[in-house]
This record gives sequence, structure tokens and C-alpha cells, in this order.
Amino acid sequence: MIRLYSILLLGLMSCATVTSQNKTVDDKVDDLLAKMTLEEKIGQMNQYSSFFDVTGPAPKEGSAKERYEHIRSGRVGSVLNVRGVKEVRKMQELAVEESRLGIPLIFGYDVIHGYSTQAPIPLAESASWDLEAIQNSARLAAKEAAATGLNWTFAPMVDISRDARWGRVMEGAGEDPYLGSRIAEARVIGFQGDDLSSPETIAATAKHFAAYGFAESGKDYNTADVGLSTLYNVILPPFKAAVDAGVRTFMNSFNELNGVPATGDVFLQRELLKGEWGFNGFIVSDWGSIIEMVDHGYAADAKHASELAANAGSDMDMESNAYVNHLAALVAEGKVDETKINDAARRILKVKFELGLFDDPYKYCDEARESSTLGNTEQKEGALDMAKKSMVLLKNQDNLLPLPKSGKKIAIIGQLANDKNSPLGNWRMGASDNTAVSVVEGFAQYSGNKVVYEQGVKLFDGQEIFAMHIDVNEDDNSGIEEAVKVAQESDVVVLVVGEHGYMSGEGRSRANIGLPGLQQEMLEAIMEVNNNVVLVLMNGRPLAINWADQHVPAILEAWQPGTMSGDAIAQVVFGDYNPSGKLPMTFPKDVAQVPIYYNHKNTGRPGPKDVVFWSHYSDMTNEPLYPFGYGLSYSSFEYSDLSTATVDGKVKVSVTVKNTSSVDGEEVVQLYIRDKVASVTRPVKELKGFEKVSIKAGESQQVSFTLTDKELGFYNNKGVYIVEPGEFDIMVGGSSAAGLTDTITL
Ligand code: BGC
Repeated sequence: MIRLYSILLLGLMSCATVTSQNKTVDDKVDDLLAKMTLEEKIGQMNQYSSFFDVTGPAPKEGSAKERYEHIRSGRVGSVLNVRGVKEVRKMQELAVEESRLGIPLIFGYDVIHGYSTQAPIPLAESASWDLEAIQNSARLAAKEAAATGLNWTFAPMVDISRDARWGRVMEGAGEDPYLGSRIAEARVIGFQGDDLSSPETIAATAKHFAAYGFAESGKDYNTADVGLSTLYNVILPPFKAAVDAGVRTFMNSFNELNGVPATGDVFLQRELLKGEWGFNGFIVSDWGSIIEMVDHGYAADAKHASELAANAGSDMDMESNAYVNHLAALVAEGKVDETKINDAARRILKVKFELGLFDDPYKYCDEARESSTLGNTEQKEGALDMAKKSMVLLKNQDNLLPLPKSGKKIAIIGQLANDKNSPLGNWRMGASDNTAVSVVEGFAQYSGNKVVYEQGVKLFDGQEIFAMHIDVNEDDNSGIEEAVKVAQESDVVVLVVGEHGYMSGEGRSRANIGLPGLQQEMLEAIMEVNNNVVLVLMNGRPLAINWADQHVPAILEAWQPGTMSGDAIAQVVFGDYNPSGKLPMTFPKDVAQVPIYYNHKNTGRPGPKDVVFWSHYSDMTNEPLYPFGYGLSYSSFEYSDLSTATVDGKVKVSVTVKNTSSVDGEEVVQLYIRDKVASVTRPVKELKGFEKVSIKAGESQQVSFTLTDKELGFYNNKGVYIVEPGEFDIMVGGSSAAGLTDTITL
């Protein structure tokens, strides 16, 4: 019987190739839809996570057997979390060779910053402000993932966030909608390339639509209650940019937004995304987010949740089991119109056609390609390049960095320095554990120094990915004494501190964002005996490290730099690479300042004032520790000759940037505007352009920008984009704080 279907199917497919030559993808989708039963169309809207050992025997009982049968009866459109070509092929065979119409599955996975080879976490990559490098990093991730049989990633996460307590800031591009939009485009293009049907590209997902990053108090999954101005001007732009860059799928989100769970939100999904923005790909729910509408108090039960989600435009159900169980009945009862099912199935099939899965469902299943791609030199070199570009030099008093390559006794201290797992970050399910180059290993390349390693105080014991939390040591400070002794006997201390990779990410919000455990105590003890301390931070979010900034001469933000971690850190520390990263998120002095972000409003009571009645804390400054866009280099740069001119409604801006040091370097030249009077108040500064330039020692470069309506306007509270005449400040500098300013009138 199975064989008969296969033969029939092969016949059908070859027929399709003969007749399909002049047909568009849309025609092909229509032809296929016409052959499908309602159940099969609903099947396309159903996604399961990998549920059995695919290469082993077929499941004999329980829900795994049911799911297995669902694939064979065309009631599954997609599977996530299947790993490796062998497994993908087997699973695909079930769909293609055993279901009535043989519609291929699409295989999704969280390829967030690499599959097997990990690039730095996305927040770190964003600190490079290097769009080409970010695009290339996504391209490499796609190449590796596609070689393992995958054809769809749930990335990029384009959620803007202003709250460093939120664990998922590690997965985004930080706090700014302009930078976030440019990075969203770069990542979408990187994953998808210019030909989705190439076996080296995969479909991307813009997630989580919308406002997931505005979870109240930084607690994951929490309520988002956001005003229209912030929604239109801060949260939505990166999503719109992803649509404009051609992203093929969207994921909605767990949170409610202004009282409506995003998964059931008609305005967001049907009216805005699919309506006004003309998005013609499909929307997948977040994991179980359809059924979670019951807990939200928005749906009475799973059936009601299915009705709400389908009517709102959520096309694919990730792991709620809701559509597959209830949609057919809802159509029969007239509660969900069949045209909505057709629309969802059409969108999903369209992406499958674009991926080329109907031409060859096994096109991503090439074991030879898999083994020659995973972790190959191209992947490793790409990861190393990205890691170096992601690092941000936060402080470098008296040019302590770079360290000399020989003649010194260097102590590397800290458990994270010897860790080969944590640097891989949180989202690295395709990577084997302990595959990062540790700092200790990276330093071994520089054998001209005498290097000793000392763990110092223990930071953590357990590192289970799904553990409730990393078991951080808060009591046992016994390692500090030895660390102090080693520090005392050394010329320089490289102290590696921060968070374990699993301390940020989904469900990993923190109420305190200082150095976890007893690391601060160790830092203070070491500073008592040796002032030559280079603090290397490895973390997945901005940390409040005010004390360190006041006392430690050199601080390098390395984030979780991925597979090539230790090599990248060593090359920066010893000056083989001149750091040029800039912070994509404000670092607070204290968690009490959060949310803190550069593009805030002026208020009616800005300060500082010499009376008490202005917008401030009485026990804490308003100033951040390090502002958005900040980052040093081994070079130093000077800005001069800002000139602005208005030509045909466009503003031409130019500035001279001089490398005043004796070291060649790169600088991210940033342009901010302030619309001084507007019908909806505008922030005190808004990033509207940046360029990363490479300037030789002692040389100058002129950098030019053109501002058009696209940069000079904003969305009013009806979601209409307007440009209003009036005065604008134009500010240019190396961070959101510094800057030459000019004023123009439009
Ligand atoms: C996350 C998504 C992810 C999905 C699938 C969810 O818990 O919120 O971002 O893509 O799981 O792994």
C-alpha cells in the first residue's frame, strides 16, 4: 500500500514538474490546495517538537504513536528540534512517502547564533555595529544548519528591550529601534540569502511579535502594557524592517499586550502585519502560546483558544495540540471560516515551495555535506572574527591594555576563564558541550609570558540547561585566599568574571544584575594586592559594575563569545586585534535605575536643577555607568568640523574624524537627532545613522550621512508616519553621550 502511494506520488510529482514550468509558486500552491481535504490543510498548521527516536523503531503507544500517525496521515506541517541529516531524512520520509499527498515537512530549529559552531550571543554581535559581519555570521549559521537537514530558523529575535533584568536581552539587538532594525535586516538577509531554494539558506523568523521585550519588571513572559507611541516608534520598527527585508515567517509571543495575548491579537497579526505591511509569509505561534491563552484568562479552553488564534491570524500551532484537535470542528460550527484555514495553509505551502522542498524534499539531507560543513575552518574563522568584533573596551586607564606579549608574569583568575561550556551561551542546542576555546587555552598561544591559572572563588556547581537556576556559590569564599596569593606574585591579573551562559536566556531573568556570587568579594580582595587588573566580563546582559568601574584600571566586555571565545579574548587582550565594539544597551550604575535607556523623553521637569522638583532620584544619579553606543579602542578619535546643510528636504551631514593615536583603528561614527517640537513628544536623542570606519594612525576621514523623511519623521498615535517641519538638533559622536551638535530648521 505504502509503495503504491509512493509510486502514485512520484507520478504526481513528475507530472507536476512537467506542467509546473510556467507556473508561479502561487499557482502551484493553489493547485495543491485544491487537492487537499480540510484535515490536510489544518495538518499544515500543526507543528510538533521532535517526539521519538526517529531512526529507531516506530513508537507503539501513547502520544508519540499518535503524533507518528499524524505525520503519516498528513496532519503535521512542520517539526522542530529534529537533529541531523539522518533523523531529518527519516522524518521527512514519513511525510513524503507515507502521507496521501506527500507534502514535505518544514524543519525548524532555534539557530540563534550558530548551530554547532557558536558565534557570540546576538547581543554581543550587535555590539559590533558591523552589519556586514552580522549578516555573514547569520549566513554561516544558516549554512551549518542547512547542512544538518534544517530549513527554518526561529531567529532573529528582534525584540527591543530596555530592561537588563530580562534574560532574553542576550538574544536581541539591544535597546534601540534604529540599530535593531538594521541588524534585523542583516540577520534576515544572512539567513535567507537571495535564493531561499539554495541548499545553503534557510527561512528566517522575526520574533516575538510583539512587545515581548517590554515584559513588566523584566520578568520573562510577563505582561506588556505599552503606550501607542512606544509601540509604533520603538517596538514595531525592527519587525517592519524584517518584513521589508523579505523575512518569510514571524513568531508571535507569549505575552499579552495591552490586555490581549499576542497570539490572539487580530490587530497585530491580521490588520497590521498581514494587512498594512503586506506580509505574505506565515506566522508560527510561540511554544504552547495558543493554549496559554487559557491561563491568560482570554480563552475558556483549548478549543476556544484555537478559535481565537486562528481568527487572529496565527497560522501554525507550535506544540499546543490545539489546531489539530479542534479546528475542523470549529469550521463545521461556523466559528472559523474555512477561508482562514485556506489562507494559513496557502502561506505555509508557499514557503515550502520557495524552499524548494517540493522539487526535492531531501535537498537538505546530504550526509557528506553535513560532515564537511559542521565546525569546518570557514565556520570557526567566521566565529572568531565575529567574536573579536563583538568585544567592547569599557575602560583602559593608562593604556594597561593591550598587554605585552612577553616578559610578564600573568595570573588568569576566575572559574569562567577555564570554562569551555559557558561561553557557548544559552541558545546552543546544536553544539556539543564543552566545545568553546577557554580563556586559559586562548592565552596559551602567547607563550612569551609566564601564565598561571587560579580558579579563585567557586562561581557555580551545576550547569543543567533546564535547571531552575545555576547553582551559584554564595557562601564558600575559600578560593579567594589562593587567588590573592597568585595575584600578589604576578605582574598583571586577568580576572575573568560574569555570568554563566545559562544565567541569561529564556526564563533566566535576574532581579540583581551585579556580579553573581562571591566574585565581587574576590575582585575587591585582589585589588588590595595588585592594581594591574584587567577585568574580562563574560555575561549575557548589561551588568551593574559601578565599583569595578571606579577601581579597576581596565575592563573588557567579552560577553559570551561562542566557540572561539578564548582565542578572541586573547587576541584582543594582547593587541592582535584592536577592539571597536560599542554598547547596544545602556549599562546602569545600579539595577534600581532600570529601565534606563538613552532615548528617553525630556519630561516637563528635566534636570539637573538646584531645587528638588525635577525628574530624578534623591539617592541615585540619573546617569548610566556606560551609555548606549559607548566603547573605547586602543586608538583614540577626535571629532571636528560638523557641517549640516538642507538640500531638497534632505539633510546632508558631514564630520571629520581623526585617529589621534599611533594605532590603526576602527570607530563607529554615530548620528543622533532631536526633533525639538513635535505633535507627539520626541526623545532627547534618537540614533538615525552610523558608519563603522577604519582610520589609520594619525589620519583623518570625513564621514557623511544623508537624512531623509525616513529618518526625520515618526509615527503618531494613530500609527501614521509623519514628518513635521521645525528645528532639529543633529549630534554626531562616538557614543550617545558625546557629540558635536548643530541645529537645522526643516
Ligand atoms: C521560545 C521561542 C523558541 C521556541 C522554540 C520558545 O520557548 O520563546 O523563541 O523559538 O521556544 O524552541
